[in-house]
Amino acid sequence: MDNKIAAVTMRNITKRFGPTLANDKVWLNIYRGEILALLGENGSGKTTLMNMLSGIYFPDEGEIAIDGKPVVIRSPKDAFDLGIGMIHQHFKLVDVLSAAENIVLGLPGKLDLKAATAKIREICSAYGFEVDPAQKIYDMSVSQKQTVEIVKVLYRGADILILDEPTAVLTPQETDKLFAVLRNMRDDGKAVVIITHKMHEVEALSDRVAILRRGQFIGDMPTKTTNAQEMTNMMVGHPVELNIPAKFSASRASPAPARRSCWRPSRGSSPWKRAASSI
Ligand SMILES: Nc1ncnc2c1ncn2[C@@H]1O[C@H](COP(=O)(O)OP(=O)(O)OP(=O)(O)O)[C@@H](O)[C@H]1O
Ligand SMILES: [Mg+2]
Repeated sequence: MDNKIAAVTMRNITKRFGPTLANDKVWLNIYRGEILALLGENGSGKTTLMNMLSGIYFPDEGEIAIDGKPVVIRSPKDAFDLGIGMIHQHFKLVDVLSAAENIVLGLPGKLDLKAATAKIREICSAYGFEVDPAQKIYDMSVSQKQTVEIVKVLYRGADILILDEPTAVLTPQETDKLFAVLRNMRDDGKAVVIITHKMHEVEALSDRVAILRRGQFIGDMPTKTTNAQEMTNMMVGHPVELNIPAKFSASRASPAPARRSCWRPSRGSSPWKRAASSI
């Protein structure tokens, strides 16, 4: 990927909240045609870093470039104008409005709900979403609401999509469906970032993984060149014995879901507990 110009380059990004150093000189590249997993323990700075791309926070130090050109992102509108869309953990939909009304809410120009509905249907069929544009948000499941949020950013032209722990609210079946549409977006040339602390999701979905620890960028690599052991060590900052049976640890070709039920903590250190609870 290094010979490609990154869709997003974050250089030396630092963000403080009072005494808390949430991001400490972070460097990160995000590429089109790739799903990047941003992995780290609770509080490692994943959301803060991405919130600086989506215009929620402004970095104290550092630079952001889109397609190699330096940009200044001061608001969510700036982010949208640059093709960046973030799906947050807490949805921002108006319950009494329909999916289509929510999707076009706040857009400039005259509201043409019929045209909007046609465009929403096009987006849905292109990526495999199931959304009824006329359905009210209050009648929707959490998964359907999340789908509306994703369609909303695509409708506004996003080609860099960031999802903050999207599976936290989903059943395993809904997660599989979401992953299928994310792969479709990747195959369509979009840059997709998924924030997670679940190792099996990194392995099942991502092409590359970038790891943060206590606000610092620890490293990134193609997902197929690493394994749960290495990623966990990088996340917590010291070797952690995962106790994965040899048949699973020997080869990455082993089915990822099987690992989930096999991993057991081998010691009681608190970093391990934090990592284990999310696997
Ligand atoms: N608005 C804020 N005000 C003060 N501190 C904050 C704020 N947002 C984040 N922090 C702090 O910055 C650090 C990084 O938080 P952040 O939410 O980015 O981590 P995270 O990796 O997304 O964690 P999680 O997995 O729990 O979502 C934490 O110490 C957090 O408490
Ligand atoms: Mg977070």
